[in-house]
Amino acid sequence: MKSIKQISLKDKTVIVRVDFNVPLNDNQEVTDNTRIIGALPTIKKLVSDGAAVILMSHLGRPKGEKNVKFSLQPVAKELSTLLGMPVKFVPEVLSAGVKKTASELESGEVMLLENLRFCPGETKGDEDMAKELASLADVYVNDAFGTAHRRHASTAVIAEYFPNDKYFGFLMEHEIVNLERALNTKENPYTAVIGGAKVSSKIDIIRNLIPKVDNMIIGGGMSFTFIKAMGGQIGGSLYEEDKLELAREILNEMILAGVNIYLPTDVVAADAFSNDANSKIVDSNNIPEGWMGLDIGPDSLKRFATAVKDSRMVLWNGPMGVFEMDKFSKGTKGVAIAVAAASTSGAFTAIGGGDSVAAINKYDLGDMLSYVSTGGGAMLEYLEGKTLPGIAAINE
Ligand code: 3PG
Repeated sequence: MKSIKQISLKDKTVIVRVDFNVPLNDNQEVTDNTRIIGALPTIKKLVSDGAAVILMSHLGRPKGEKNVKFSLQPVAKELSTLLGMPVKFVPEVLSAGVKKTASELESGEVMLLENLRFCPGETKGDEDMAKELASLADVYVNDAFGTAHRRHASTAVIAEYFPNDKYFGFLMEHEIVNLERALNTKENPYTAVIGGAKVSSKIDIIRNLIPKVDNMIIGGGMSFTFIKAMGGQIGGSLYEEDKLELAREILNEMILAGVNIYLPTDVVAADAFSNDANSKIVDSNNIPEGWMGLDIGPDSLKRFATAVKDSRMVLWNGPMGVFEMDKFSKGTKGVAIAVAAASTSGAFTAIGGGDSVAAINKYDLGDMLSYVSTGGGAMLEYLEGKTLPGIAAINE
């Protein structure tokens, strides 16, 4: 792997693509700094090498226009606090001012450009934009795992301008090493826990994991498409009509591969999508009309948790229910505790995807896991077996 570990970048100007796509509140304050913290090892290594460090990122989807709501200024402030040193924020991406600040940047100094997506060329993968960004530096480092599935000017296209001077940052390296372990492990039993609302967004990951896992646990809203596909009565629960046949195919593929399939046997059903709704535990294949499943039930949790705790390898993506509402959070919390317990017993435990990471953080269990990915879509695509343009561009 072309890592910055092996080299010193003393007196070089290094442009680093990071993923500072973090949530901001109405007061423009960073409410979750996990991704900024994730990039610190790379930034600190470059600073201590004596490089001049130019950081660039996107935030949100401003659609090629300047929009103060998506400014990276609050991120510069947060980064400066975390690094314990000044960060020069330039409120522009491509301008004479950016060029001037970049050329005057001294060894050991850090600057951050404004949101790359204020320029329409970023998401279009524009060559001219990539070339102009490249002209600011001697070396390119990509540490933006969360954006590695996008072929954008700053993630993949820019790398072409650094044929011999492009590297992965530490965060990228960490993500790739751990995801490769999850995909190529010989550690058994291997349990995948897949949840979330829609089967359609998880089909490829399930298919790619079938030959690798011993146990496939399917929870969350997507489980109802499978339950209905098997003839269950799911009441008013969420499901995808056009994916019923596909769900049957996937179930067959798992059976043929000898995978133990875990679907909810019972659910917490509610008479409305609300924390104040009436709720009761019912069999997952016998949900009354007018009721919808919003969490796995206690029997399902017990079976899921036992499979997880008995595993040597656990991969988790997607919550088991509407954990944002307290009344329907027990399943997700219980699985989070089981994954943490498996970790304590020596299993390799990996988790990714915005919702599951939010859940594990809500229960303060993130530190107990072997690996918490900073990527949502990027992690999914990696686990689907796809080549991520941001990674390929460094390896080429
Ligand atoms: C993410 O949060 O998944 C990444 O930052 C990519 O953002 P995007 O989906 O807007 O490209």
